[in-house]
Amino acid sequence: YLDFVRSDETTGIDGKPMLNRYSTHLTREHDFPGAQAMLYGAGVPDSQTMKTAPHVGVASVWWEGNPCNMHLLDLGKEVKKALTARGMLAWQYNTVGVSDAITMGNQGMRFSLQTREIIADSVESVTCAQAHDANITIPGCDKNMPGCIMGMARHNRPSLMIYGGTIDKGYSKTLRKNVNVATCYEAFGAYTFNTLKQPDDGGDTSKTKDEIMEDLERHACPGAGACGGMYTANTMATAIETMGLSLPGSSSTPATSPAKMRECAKAADAIKVCLEKDITPKQLLTKASFENALVITMALGGSTNAVLHFLAMAVTAGVDLTLDDFQRVSDKIPFMADLAPSGKYLMADLYEIGGVPSVQKLLIAAGLLDGSIPTVTGKTLAENVASWPSLPSDQVIIKSLDNPIKSSGHIQILKGNFAPAGAVAKITGKEGLRFSGKARCFDKEVQLNEALNRGEIPRGENLVLIVRYEGPKGGPGMPEQLKASAAIMGAKLTNVALVTDGRYSGASHGFIVGHVCPEAAVGGPIALVKDGDEVTIDAETNTISVDVSEEEMEKRKNAWTPPRMVVTRGVLAKYAALVSDATHGAVTDLF
Ligand code: FES
Repeated sequence: YLDFVRSDETTGIDGKPMLNRYSTHLTREHDFPGAQAMLYGAGVPDSQTMKTAPHVGVASVWWEGNPCNMHLLDLGKEVKKALTARGMLAWQYNTVGVSDAITMGNQGMRFSLQTREIIADSVESVTCAQAHDANITIPGCDKNMPGCIMGMARHNRPSLMIYGGTIDKGYSKTLRKNVNVATCYEAFGAYTFNTLKQPDDGGDTSKTKDEIMEDLERHACPGAGACGGMYTANTMATAIETMGLSLPGSSSTPATSPAKMRECAKAADAIKVCLEKDITPKQLLTKASFENALVITMALGGSTNAVLHFLAMAVTAGVDLTLDDFQRVSDKIPFMADLAPSGKYLMADLYEIGGVPSVQKLLIAAGLLDGSIPTVTGKTLAENVASWPSLPSDQVIIKSLDNPIKSSGHIQILKGNFAPAGAVAKITGKEGLRFSGKARCFDKEVQLNEALNRGEIPRGENLVLIVRYEGPKGGPGMPEQLKASAAIMGAKLTNVALVTDGRYSGASHGFIVGHVCPEAAVGGPIALVKDGDEVTIDAETNTISVDVSEEEMEKRKNAWTPPRMVVTRGVLAKYAALVSDATHGAVTDLF
């Protein structure tokens, strides 16, 4: 239904290749004089431009209250300048977004994932309604990236994405080390257990725990940019670049670097190439490019949220991607990057040694990445990175292929009587590969956080802490959890594993399993588990099971009653009514 608005003509009225094949319907004749009047009013300078220039929508997910997004309007202005200089008509607009770090652990988090759908809806709506010929999206925070790509896949007009960029490193004088936003969450565990102290290295140790927290909060985020580790934003940006939908280097170029501004100018050249060669998002969103996304995510230790977002992007683009693909790729790709959250370094460090293109070059040479996929530059991925420097021989961030951190990927897809449709675990190997413990169930994350605050999670006996009714429908909104996992890491509670039908933040680490499907709100086994049941997570056999007989589970199922929906109106009610399960990416347009 979107194709009928595209002109079949290939030559414009100026005799040149027609790049305005959508907007020409509005601007060529005088069938829509009101539209042309509006466009002149909005800044189209003359009739020649009106009739021949392609209209490019520039969609930033800008707002002021978040370092990840605060600079995106400025990037958009730079893009507009470059598009205008190249004879195109640029129309800036905005979508909503929210900050995952700000909403984390509070009720606002329920509103986060559903913004991915609003972003996709916005990009699709404005592009189609305004007859844009092309689209440049500028996302920053986590959900922004998949939202933009889903919007681009829906309208399927020449498009590319500019990632807002990663944040610089923060530095805490009291802890005398580099810090980032995840450091604050992890310090909260030590703060709660009164173990937050300055390092005993001969320096000042006089600060109270409140002074240390204050110092951390003040210095973790030194300016614009998305969270600096291999958390969700950098994971998604890295994958999307490796799928060919953004320019080489976009995902590792820091937000405040001059190179990010230069990327905005280069994007104008690239979108022109996309228009001329008619390169559309669905040509780039293929099984091969998703395979590349999985490979780079495993190699760099990306966030488990990537699973949900890749599935959503694939469902939107009509690509057959399943949870089994993640396990297949995880089995063959070594985990190589010493990047936070499980490692030491940040994306800004990777930028210093060549950035993501240098890693891509290494993986292409090893035959692990498909360098032949097309990209928004009009060249293949391999051609894009050919002139990029190789990783320096003395760098320590990316381990070699023959001596990786782990010989397979860190994302494991688990199935079993606890999660018949699947669950997603992040296992870096540091935590071991198998965990068994007694279940302790919490209906909602807030209950677990309160138990942690009260010091009610004992050390000693192994415990599997289950947080349920936090799935796509149950949350609603599949809220992302970091507070509990960070507090547990900070408190050094090594006797616990965390399991949820919700999600974990990309900054979470430890023995964690999320996306348990079917979720509790629809009566999945996670709703039927009781305190004291023995739960086993086994990353070698890829299973998650509860030691309860089938008959007993059946009995519990018959006695189970669905919870009353607490949200009955507004955006979350709409979301809960429409959303698919996590194995289909939790999208809202799959009927
Ligand atoms: Fe935006 Fe972390 S809060 S990337």
